[in-house]
Amino acid sequence: MSGMLNGQRIFVTGAAGGIGREVVNGLAAEGAEVIATDVRLAEGTNASLSLICDVTDQASVNAAVAEANAKLGPLTGLAYVTGFNHEATPIAEFAMEMWDKVFDINVKGVVRCANAIVPQLRANGGGSIVTTTSWWSYSGKAYFSAYCASKAALKSLTQSMADELAPNGIRVNNVAPGNMNTSMHTDALESEASKRGITFEEMREIEWAKVPLGIAGPPSAIADCMAFLFSDKASYITGGTFDVNGGVLLRSA
Ligand SMILES: NC(=O)c1ccc[n+]([C@@H]2O[C@H](COP(=O)([O-])OP(=O)(O)OC[C@H]3O[C@@H](n4cnc5c(N)ncnc54)[C@H](O)[C@@H]3O)[C@@H](O)[C@H]2O)c1
Repeated sequence: MSGMLNGQRIFVTGAAGGIGREVVNGLAAEGAEVIATDVRLAEGTNASLSLICDVTDQASVNAAVAEANAKLGPLTGLAYVTGFNHEATPIAEFAMEMWDKVFDINVKGVVRCANAIVPQLRANGGGSIVTTTSWWSYSGKAYFSAYCASKAALKSLTQSMADELAPNGIRVNNVAPGNMNTSMHTDALESEASKRGITFEEMREIEWAKVPLGIAGPPSAIADCMAFLFSDKASYITGGTFDVNGGVLLRSA
């Protein structure tokens, strides 16, 4: 533990997920007080506080932020790790309800969190926000239209926030994971394998062969990148996209 995040109070969404849990523990290990939030309680982490928070519901977000503020003091940061992927779906069969759900969780939730948290950061004289996009934000993929479009939209939203909030001393960046070894990745492999009529193992071999470093990454790699972005070492960095992907973009052009 370096203590590089000492004195920070960081609100993490999606904290019960494969990457979110590692982000909670990684930021706490560097000295931050972490508020772990999710639609289900994130148990067994090193969070200072664990709260239920549904990012599709402004009242739920406001309540969690208010409780964090009352118990620990004003927030200094937001790590938006929440994300939702849909099953592989042909565009001509895409239900609008599913399209809306993907955008509600992956994009609009960030705006709800900004509504609740940015005023606190402004009042503190600054802070840092990190969102979680994807290597699939760079180009669309067959059957994953809504997810890819939502992550491209999130990247643009993150850049707009960076530009707008810079005068308030608030830095805003996004981390773009490649294939990380979590259930979101294995579920996507299973879904794609069944569309193609091949086994899970065959699908995994196809996907991992695209990664120069040869494997789906450890979720802790995302936490390490976020810890850096929340620290003073990143004080001149805003509006950036940070690829944590084992080099996968080099083989997917
Ligand atoms: N795992 C990967 O390979 C990978 C690759 C690229 C990008 N990502 C992105 O990384 C982030 C984390 O992915 P993960 O693998 O940990 O996924 P995950 O499915 O394990 O975790 C996502 C979490 O978000 C929570 N969540 C869903 N809806 C919510 C809501 N309405 N309100 C609050 N929380 C809600 C879920 O309960 C879950 O705990 C996501 O944004 C994802 O899109 C993951």
